[in-house]
Amino acid sequence: MFTTTLAQKPGTLPLDLFTAIEDLKQELNAVILAHYYQDPDIQDIADFIGDSLQLAKAAAQTNAHVIVFAGVHFMAETAKILNPDKLVLLPDLNAGCSLADSCPPDEFAAFKAAHPDHLVISYINCSAEVKAMSDIICTSSNAVKILQQIPKEQPIIFAPDKNLGRYLIQQTGRDMLLWQGSCIVHETFSEKKIVQLKTIHPEAEVIAHPECETSVLRHASYIGSTAALLNYCQKVPAQEFIVATEPGIIHQMQKLAPHKHFIPAPPDNNCNCNECPFMRLNTLEKLYLTMKNRTPEITMSEDIRVAALRPIQRMLEMSV
Ligand code: 13P
Ligand code: SF4
Repeated sequence: MFTTTLAQKPGTLPLDLFTAIEDLKQELNAVILAHYYQDPDIQDIADFIGDSLQLAKAAAQTNAHVIVFAGVHFMAETAKILNPDKLVLLPDLNAGCSLADSCPPDEFAAFKAAHPDHLVISYINCSAEVKAMSDIICTSSNAVKILQQIPKEQPIIFAPDKNLGRYLIQQTGRDMLLWQGSCIVHETFSEKKIVQLKTIHPEAEVIAHPECETSVLRHASYIGSTAALLNYCQKVPAQEFIVATEPGIIHQMQKLAPHKHFIPAPPDNNCNCNECPFMRLNTLEKLYLTMKNRTPEITMSEDIRVAALRPIQRMLEMSV
């Protein structure tokens, strides 16, 4: 869906990519922001690693001239919305998000128009166009807090993730009109295989991201954003965890709790579909080439940017 302006000119790659990227960081006055689902090499060279809220906050605060976003398109787009004068680079413009794609802006506009009395709260995993139609943005780490600040009688549309929406309804007791979107990665986990794993590892705690389906969430002893899951497994006494989210997060879990055992929750088929195919488009090589060639960059119309900025700012104000 994005234009394929992967303008990574062919040429020889330096032997030591880590040093070459460090040199480019200095040359460009760049900061590398990376999501927990990125390849371990990318996480290791990043200046900041976080969940989507932490990354949005880091993007809002950085003094760097260039933001290199090692994540997916909507995350880099959020950084650009917050930093119109900075160059925001994404190593591969095709690093999209199935959840964001499940909410086409024209269909969402019609849905919103059919419910004019509803406040629109959108999960950050959506396009700038959908953000521009929203009243407040949230992430999986601040959604409950934000909902608790909305008057009880206010009707709400929640988009685009139906699984997170259902989980929030259960957590807050609020009725919300849900857009029926979902993430292909979090819907791939198999309840049956998690139950089988639990019989082999009876001491293991299941921890899950709220984008998972209810059938998986009901086996979880803890549900939270990627940052919350990371924090949880460090502080509880349990030594073994079945991790129901994209397994990229296990790199940080293992680094921060080296003596604990982390088992990726298995997908339904014998495939790698618990790995986000969009996140995994970014590689260390593409990161280097992006910085070297200063492209592909994130751009958008100023009208959309200004309209999308307002609900993001509301989120940042409401989540302090
Ligand atoms: P977090 O907000 O937990 O980082 O989740 C982002 C995401 O894309 C989950 O699939
Ligand atoms: Fe989007 Fe799912 Fe990938 Fe997260 S894991 S970026 S929600 S496709």
